[in-house]
Amino acid sequence: MFRRLGAYLNEIFAGIRVVRSNNAQGRARDGFNRVSGELETVERRGTLLGSLLSPVAETVGVAGAMVILVGAHHFLIETEKLSATSLMVLGVLLIRLLPMVNQLQGVTGQLAYNYSGVKEVEKWLDTAQFPVRPFGNRDFDGVRKEIRFENLTYRYPNGTLALDDVSFTVPAGSTVALVGASGSGKSTIAGLLIRLREPTGGRILVDGTDYWEFSPNAWHRRLGVVEQEAFLFHETIADNISFGLTDVSRERMNEALRIAHLEDVVQAQAKGLDTVIGERGTLLSGGQKQRLAIARAMVRDPQLLLLDEATSALDNVSERQVQEALDEARQGRTSVVIAHRLSTIRNANQIVVLEHGRVVESGTWAELEAKGGAFRRLLEATRATPSAEA
Ligand SMILES: Nc1ncnc2c1ncn2[C@@H]1O[C@H](COP(=O)(O)OP(=O)(O)OP(=O)(O)O)[C@@H](O)[C@H]1O
Ligand SMILES: [Mg+2]
Repeated sequence: MFRRLGAYLNEIFAGIRVVRSNNAQGRARDGFNRVSGELETVERRGTLLGSLLSPVAETVGVAGAMVILVGAHHFLIETEKLSATSLMVLGVLLIRLLPMVNQLQGVTGQLAYNYSGVKEVEKWLDTAQFPVRPFGNRDFDGVRKEIRFENLTYRYPNGTLALDDVSFTVPAGSTVALVGASGSGKSTIAGLLIRLREPTGGRILVDGTDYWEFSPNAWHRRLGVVEQEAFLFHETIADNISFGLTDVSRERMNEALRIAHLEDVVQAQAKGLDTVIGERGTLLSGGQKQRLAIARAMVRDPQLLLLDEATSALDNVSERQVQEALDEARQGRTSVVIAHRLSTIRNANQIVVLEHGRVVESGTWAELEAKGGAFRRLLEATRATPSAEA
């Protein structure tokens, strides 16, 4: 039972970004309460059993002690003196009885200990390492003109300066691609946009409004996120798609699966949408997992799309399928795409090149290629390793 609770917590902790970015803390907490509730029942039964047993043990103990005392009394009266031997026997018998009483106290202590642990975890789910400045309560229903990343700076708590004065603009309905070497700060931008972390400097403005002003519900309802590592939960396909949302119709889920090019895969399963996909989606291939993550983003019909392309290598067929799914997902939406395979962003409206947390170049593919700077070097580097370029 403890193992189930442990497995559940493990999953939630590992998938905390998904939980937060889908505004699904409530749901994670419900699951936690469910599993820990079951655990509590088992514990209670155990304690009840223990507490039924201990009066028996105690009665036996008390009776034993009485027998001893009566015996001793009898012995003393008979002989009118307490011999050293009988005193020792008395002592030894009493000492043997003591541990039973101690055991009882042990059980209570263990319970109290577990309870405090559970409370800690609950607190962690709500606060730890995450933003402290409260979000506003404005509604967000889409990007009308543009999103502006303005002098954005981010320093991780350990002191790493991951973003240094980053500015760029994403016009409504267009796709901006972020590229740059590993560690240049791309996923950090994603983390800020998801509001997992708060900018240490600068702002993100949506049509002039600081994005922190939007209520968590509104923001996460409209922001579709496909993260670098698709994180799936050990639940059904339907649960994974609707994660964090309530009342999602089957039709909407199927539509999301269609956009994600995953309809056939799901239909091929005997239980369809109700298929349980195994721990972290082990029953799906890498490409299928990513497409399921795309479906999860699509079911929200997001006004703003954030795609952090997977780094893990997919074979050519899966990669093409994922790419097609992403292309369809981007249609008509304001998108920020983090690209590792440059071939996937040839059609982006704008490409922003990052180096050590700074924007070093930006422009269209043709412009940047002609310029012969940082982007050209990236391009040549990926061409030098053919596996990266499909
Ligand atoms: N949680 C963290 N704590 C401290 N430093 C971090 C953390 N996450 C990332 N960094 C650092 O911040 C910098 C930017 O990392 P980031 O993950 O944004 O890079 P990236 O461009 O997404 O790289 P990749 O292409 O490998 O995904 C790196 O120097 C990285 O070591
Ligand atoms: Mg990254």
